[in-house]
Amino acid sequence: MLKVLRKPLLSGLALAIVLPAGLSSVSAAENQPVSALDAAVELDERYAKSFDIGAAVEPSMLQGKDAEVLKRHYNSLVAENVMKPINIQPEEGKFTFEEMDKIVEFAKENNMKLRGHTLIWHSQVPEWFFLDKEGNKMVDETDPKQREKNKKLLLKRLETHVKTIVKRYKSDISSWDVVNEVVDDNGQLRNSPWYQITGTDYIKVAFETADRYAGKDAKLYINDYNTEIDPKRETLYNLVKELVEDGVPIDGVGHQAHIQIGWPSIAEIEKTINMFADLGLDNQITELDVSLYGWPPKPAYPTYDEIPASEFDRQAAHYDELFKLYEKLDDKISSVTFWGVADNHTWLNDRAEQYNDGVGADAPFVFDKDYNVKPAYWAIIDEES
Ligand code: XIL
Repeated sequence: MLKVLRKPLLSGLALAIVLPAGLSSVSAAENQPVSALDAAVELDERYAKSFDIGAAVEPSMLQGKDAEVLKRHYNSLVAENVMKPINIQPEEGKFTFEEMDKIVEFAKENNMKLRGHTLIWHSQVPEWFFLDKEGNKMVDETDPKQREKNKKLLLKRLETHVKTIVKRYKSDISSWDVVNEVVDDNGQLRNSPWYQITGTDYIKVAFETADRYAGKDAKLYINDYNTEIDPKRETLYNLVKELVEDGVPIDGVGHQAHIQIGWPSIAEIEKTINMFADLGLDNQITELDVSLYGWPPKPAYPTYDEIPASEFDRQAAHYDELFKLYEKLDDKISSVTFWGVADNHTWLNDRAEQYNDGVGADAPFVFDKDYNVKPAYWAIIDEES
C-alpha cells in the first residue's frame, strides 16, 4: 500500500513524496521528481467509476518504461498507427496483422480494453483503393456508367477491408472508429476520394459491415477532431442525426480532442457532449492531448526552447477543468484515451519538425518525457489526502 503524503500545489516547483504507508513523512528536496511508477494514484483507478482511461501506442512501446506505465495507469489501448488502412492492407488482399496482434496480445495479458482505430479514413490509406481495374484514378472518371461500376468496386473493397479486420478482432476490440474525419473544418462533408466516388454511401456501408461482423457488445463510432467547433460541429451533428434516423448502426461519437491549453472553451466542450448525447448516443474522448501552443505555431503563437514551469501550471489548470467536466458528464462518456503515454512521444512534435524547424517541442500529457508526473497529473487525480 502506498499513500501520497503531500499534495503539491499546482506548481512545477511543488513536490510530492510517496512512501509506504506507515512510514513517517520526510522532507524532500525541491523539484524532486515523482515517477509515474511511484505516484500512488493510478489514473484508471481514479476514474474507474466513470470511464476507461486509454493510451495510443506503437508496438515498440509495449516494453520498457512505457509498458510499465501503461500497466499501472491505463486500462484501454488503441494502436497509434498499425491498424490504419495503409498499414494493415498495403496491397489489395495482402493483410498485415503482425503489429496489431502484438498490441492485442499485450492488452489481453494485462486485462485491458481495446479500441479499433481506424477502419476507414482519407489519410494513411493506400492509393489502390481508388484505382479502377485499368489502374486509372476513379475520381477522374467522367462516364456515368463507369462511375457507377467504380462506386460498386470501391464499396466492395471497403466491405472486404472492414469485414476482414472486424472479424479477426471480433473478440478483442470493444469499440471501433468506423469512419474517421468525414467532415471538413469548413462545414462541408470532406471531399475525399471516398466521398467523390460513393457520396455518403461509404459511411453507411462501413457501419453496416462493421455491425455485421463485430462482437455483439462492440460499439461503433464516428470519429473526428474539432467536434466542438462550428460549422464543423453542426455538420457532424446533422450527419449523425440522419444516420440515426436512417437506422444506420452507430453507437457514438469519438471526439479526438487534440486541444490546446486555452481552446476550445470548457463550455463548448460541454455543449458538444450534450448535443450528441441528446441523440441517444455515447461519447468517447479518443485522442486527447493538450498542446501548450496554438495553431499554426508560427507566427501567431510563442514556442519555447525550454518550456517555462508556468506553462505546465496553466496546462494543469486546463486538465483540471477538463476532467471535472468529463466526470460530471460521465453518464455520457464511456472512455477517455490519451494520444500517447508520456511527453517523450507525441505526434505534435512531428508538426513542430515539419512547420517550425523543430522549435517548440510540445508536452501535451500528464507524464513528462522522463515518465515523471506533471502538475497536470496532480490536477486530474484531484488528490486531497
Ligand atoms: C497520427 C499519428 O499519431 C502519427 O504517428 C501519424 O504519423 C499520423 O497520424 N487524427 C487521427 C490519428 O485520427 O490517427 C492521427 O494519428 C492524429 C490525428
